[in-house]
Amino acid sequence: MASFRGFSVVMTMVLTVVLGGCCVGGHGVVIGPTEELGICASAVTIYGYKCQEIQVTTKDGYILSVQRISEGRRGNGGKSKKQPVIIQHGVLVDGVTWLLNSPEQNLPMILADDGYDVWIANTRGTRFSRRHTTLNPTDQAFWNWSWDELVLYDLPAVFDHVFQQTSQKIHYVGHSLGTLIVLASLSEGKLVNQLHSVAFLSPIAYLSHMTTPIGVLAARSLLPEKVYGLLGIAEFNPKGKEVGELLKVWCTHPGVNCYDLLSAFTGHNCCLNSSTVELFLKNEPQSTSTKNMVHLAQTVRSGVLAKYNYGRTDYNLMHYGEINPPLYNLSNIPHDLAIFISYGGRDALSDVKDVNRLLDHFKLHDVDKFAVQFIQNYAHADYIMGVDANNIVYNSVISFFKKHGSV
Ligand SMILES: *[C@@H]1O[C@H](CO)[C@@H](O)[C@H](O)[C@H]1NC(C)=O
Ligand SMILES: *[C@@H]1O[C@H](CO)[C@@H](O)[C@H](O)[C@H]1NC(C)=O
Ligand SMILES: *[C@@H]1O[C@H](CO)[C@@H](O)[C@H](O)[C@H]1NC(C)=O
Repeated sequence: MASFRGFSVVMTMVLTVVLGGCCVGGHGVVIGPTEELGICASAVTIYGYKCQEIQVTTKDGYILSVQRISEGRRGNGGKSKKQPVIIQHGVLVDGVTWLLNSPEQNLPMILADDGYDVWIANTRGTRFSRRHTTLNPTDQAFWNWSWDELVLYDLPAVFDHVFQQTSQKIHYVGHSLGTLIVLASLSEGKLVNQLHSVAFLSPIAYLSHMTTPIGVLAARSLLPEKVYGLLGIAEFNPKGKEVGELLKVWCTHPGVNCYDLLSAFTGHNCCLNSSTVELFLKNEPQSTSTKNMVHLAQTVRSGVLAKYNYGRTDYNLMHYGEINPPLYNLSNIPHDLAIFISYGGRDALSDVKDVNRLLDHFKLHDVDKFAVQFIQNYAHADYIMGVDANNIVYNSVISFFKKHGSV
């Protein structure tokens, strides 16, 4: 696409901001209106959709923001009992990323127009989910979590809320980390009773073959010691000074092209619109916790799906009663759960080899309940922002939901 040139220019700008550590305040908030208005008013209702800002509190006190798009542009189309869909973003971004393309192109609005009751989740620590019943983002304890806590608290909080409000089984769409946390949860026997079906886009479980150069470097250097040392139990703010320093070091390595950070992280996305990318960069990246990044780095290095490793035998013993962190065993996922998986041939984070290893776990899955789509020229970000993702991916997701929607 012709957008690639504009793309690198934008990337250079981002890099300047990131590396220079200038301009942006502590929380990396860049644009004004969205901040005041919230996601519904700034990105959804302007197109004629009904959208409600909702707050869901986790058992460990985080107040998460969720957007419910309960009606499409054509009203509710006479459907009284709509099926709910939860849409979960990946790491270092928030729910806004789903909404950057036109209503005809983005997943939440397509689902709403198709008569689904859509719920967009925003993980703890991202721009609209930075509140807690007792803690502040400036407290260390606010950032004392990894993706284990997203499995243990964030997901169940959102699922329970949607289930209570709708009294209906739920369809789920996850991208990237949004797939990993559900896989982990299902492997522990959770969520199954609340689910109609699950769609995994750019699935992540194993990360050993990840090809993104900057990701590989990050995985090598983000050790548990960082949580106690340099970075501390703290916010991992991609636009902050500390992370900027790290990026500076990583960017000097041969083979790392920091002039195109989005590609450096996600692979060569085939189908992004440069205007959408610009919008993306105004809204993202978002913060997560250092501990979460360290846990992801462990997932890359260890080649297994396990709980957070404290990096010290005594700490692991104290937290788990075992020397090694317990594994999430994907073989426990019920064989009759409806699962759709779509993965791309150019995805630098969700490498084809790693996805194949994940697919191995589903060899015994009911064939009627399992669908796999492979898109040769897709990379990681195409799944959320690709101009043709509507025709290529989302239509397939919706067909799958229709097939597996009745009880
Ligand atoms: C972080 O949480 C662990 C429990 O998972 C606790 O042992 C530790 O004291 C906490 N640290 C901080 C700074 O809150
Ligand atoms: C790219 O985005 C711009 C601005 O939203 C829009 O006018 C244009 O039609 C988009 N192009 C494609 C191919 O979707
Ligand atoms: C995972 O679970 C399966 C059965 O659900 C079991 O056969 C296998 O031994 C388990 N693997 C590990 C590593 O615990």
